[in-house]
Amino acid sequence: MEMAIIGYGRMGREIERLASERGHRVRSIIDPVAQGAAFREITPESLAGVEVAVEFTSPDAALANIQRVAQSGVNMVVGTTGWYADIGRARTLVEEAQTGLIYAPNFAIGAGAFYEIVKFAAQVFDNLEDYDAYCHETHHCGKADSPSGTARRIGELLVEKISRKEAPVYESLNRRREPGELHVSSTRGGWVPGTHEVVFDSEFDSVELVHRARSRGGLAAGALRAAEWIVGRKGFYEFSDFLRETLGL
Ligand SMILES: NC(=O)c1ccc[n+]([C@@H]2O[C@H](COP(=O)([O-])OP(=O)(O)OC[C@H]3O[C@@H](n4cnc5c(N)ncnc54)[C@H](O)[C@@H]3O)[C@@H](O)[C@H]2O)c1
Repeated sequence: MEMAIIGYGRMGREIERLASERGHRVRSIIDPVAQGAAFREITPESLAGVEVAVEFTSPDAALANIQRVAQSGVNMVVGTTGWYADIGRARTLVEEAQTGLIYAPNFAIGAGAFYEIVKFAAQVFDNLEDYDAYCHETHHCGKADSPSGTARRIGELLVEKISRKEAPVYESLNRRREPGELHVSSTRGGWVPGTHEVVFDSEFDSVELVHRARSRGGLAAGALRAAEWIVGRKGFYEFSDFLRETLGL
């Protein structure tokens, strides 16, 4: 696979390392400031010969990057989080350009499987009214956004599946929580690569589901598998589309 890496930070470097291990060729590394990046901007020249561009940059850069890559006719993996208010616009750009794009707030295969398990558990606990639900996530002190994109998705999913929950609340609660609220809390500190915990708790017992990333390697490996999957496809996909096809769900 002939690749471009857009954003040469922690994730971009990990993708580069794993890409060569998996026999892919990184033709181009694009970053406006990072040392070691051959290009400063997305241009026809920096995407020449590229089959798929893998983007891990910052929330304010993602949509413009999606636009430039789509208009260059190149398929794309978007790992950047925090830009999802622009998702409708991104879909239109990709559909108009007739290219392919896959995005996810968390490309770890185990996290994708975790999400499917949480979905199933939420359906089970929807019928068990004695159980309350909440979510907590922890990430390293350098993470730009809070809550994580994954925690936001989990919050939305729990509210969608558990009918007694009306809305997720992401900020810290300096008041009593309302029954219809689903609390999603975040901690930032240390070097934790990413932990997500979903709890269904009753007066008598507690069911706890935890996904604990050990390193960024799993995120980069999943993003590369998504890149292999999106090469030659057209359309706008979520990671769950890839995963459900792969897992036969
Ligand atoms: N989806 C996932 O699985 C996953 C996993 C980890 C991180 N992330 C997200 O990916 C993003 C990047 O994470 P990171 O830890 O690599 O961050 P980082 O800060 O280490 O690196 C970001 C890099 O992007 C570069 N950049 C900024 N604007 C750019 C632009 N317009 N074009 C090209 N490069 C640009 C920066 O110069 C920097 O080198 C964040 O949004 C983070 O939340 C997602």
